[in-house]
Amino acid sequence: MSTKPRLLTGDTPTGRLHLGHWVGSLENRVRLQQDYDCYFIIANVHAMTTRADQPLAIRESVFDIALDYLAAGIDPAKATIFIQSEVPAIAELTVLFSMLLSYPRLMRNPTIKDEIRDKDLGDNYAFGFLLYPIGQVADILAFRPEVVPVGEDQVPHLEMAREIARKFNQQYCGVDPHAPDDQALSLGGLFPVIEPLIGRVKRLVGTGGPGSHGQLLKMSKSLNNAILLSDDADTLKKKVMGMYTDPNRLKATDKGTIEQNPLWIFHDTFNPDKAWIAEAKAQYQQGTIGDVACKLRLVEVLDALIAPMRERRQVFAKDLGEVARILKEGTAKANAVAEATLLAAKTKMALDYFTLQRELHYI
Ligand code: TRP
Repeated sequence: MSTKPRLLTGDTPTGRLHLGHWVGSLENRVRLQQDYDCYFIIANVHAMTTRADQPLAIRESVFDIALDYLAAGIDPAKATIFIQSEVPAIAELTVLFSMLLSYPRLMRNPTIKDEIRDKDLGDNYAFGFLLYPIGQVADILAFRPEVVPVGEDQVPHLEMAREIARKFNQQYCGVDPHAPDDQALSLGGLFPVIEPLIGRVKRLVGTGGPGSHGQLLKMSKSLNNAILLSDDADTLKKKVMGMYTDPNRLKATDKGTIEQNPLWIFHDTFNPDKAWIAEAKAQYQQGTIGDVACKLRLVEVLDALIAPMRERRQVFAKDLGEVARILKEGTAKANAVAEATLLAAKTKMALDYFTLQRELHYI
């Protein structure tokens, strides 16, 4: 067992990862794997809550996400990558935690509301769909982590993890309701009241223009405005050269606008050469530099980030047996931690029926 503090986060396998995932959470994970005992969950059960009819697509996506992780620089010798459905303790904790949160509280979760709207679920969603935020609380608390790096949209789920941890600690571990969150464990609580770690970019825009409400849309594979971490050099170039910029600028001598312009949002986010950006932005506003030159520069910047990922992906993609082994070993390790947490939780809840540590009349 590692002596480093634990970190847990993960992704729902609904397609390959893109630049928005990189700045939202993935780059933090690659950086933090040196100092934390990292667990990365591939949340395939969550994918089923809206796609139960597509099991094979989800299965393929599980391997795609694992490849994306390895390509992005997650080192299986340092970090543990595992498959949610193969860790049954998570499912058991989900049922136990579902008693600790009211139904109206769940329905106030803004991410759930957004998803029902954005995915056009109407009132036709599965019962299991409503259970998934509690499932996510179980994903997290099963590992009792210190840090959970996520994108901003996940913060409502993390708030539920905080509430459930507090409630459990109070109800079953005798922690005082007024105890400060950071003392939960030292006062005998089982679950840490976790802190989210939000990425440096909260919501990366896509390569397309604004949506019907006039705002630039977030990068998303389903909106067809994403640059994938696995894009080849040609695809990357095509996407960047075709990206939305200032729609009123027809030629390089027109004065350009840099606000709300994905070209400059991408440079600000990914280009380390801040002096070049400052100068090029000034020229853009005066009409002395073309869109094409700035886009070509962006292609170089993004390719420098993605090219090493592409190479690593190719190596692992040739040896899917190795990827399967990494997932199997990771899942075994995850099971050991989650089982220990489940046993501790059941003991606190007087569900330790056959461990015979209690007096006989309890059994
Ligand atoms: N719901 C997250 C997403 O779609 C994925 C996820 C599942 C997760 N379980 C988690 C993230 C636990 C952090 C912690 O991106």
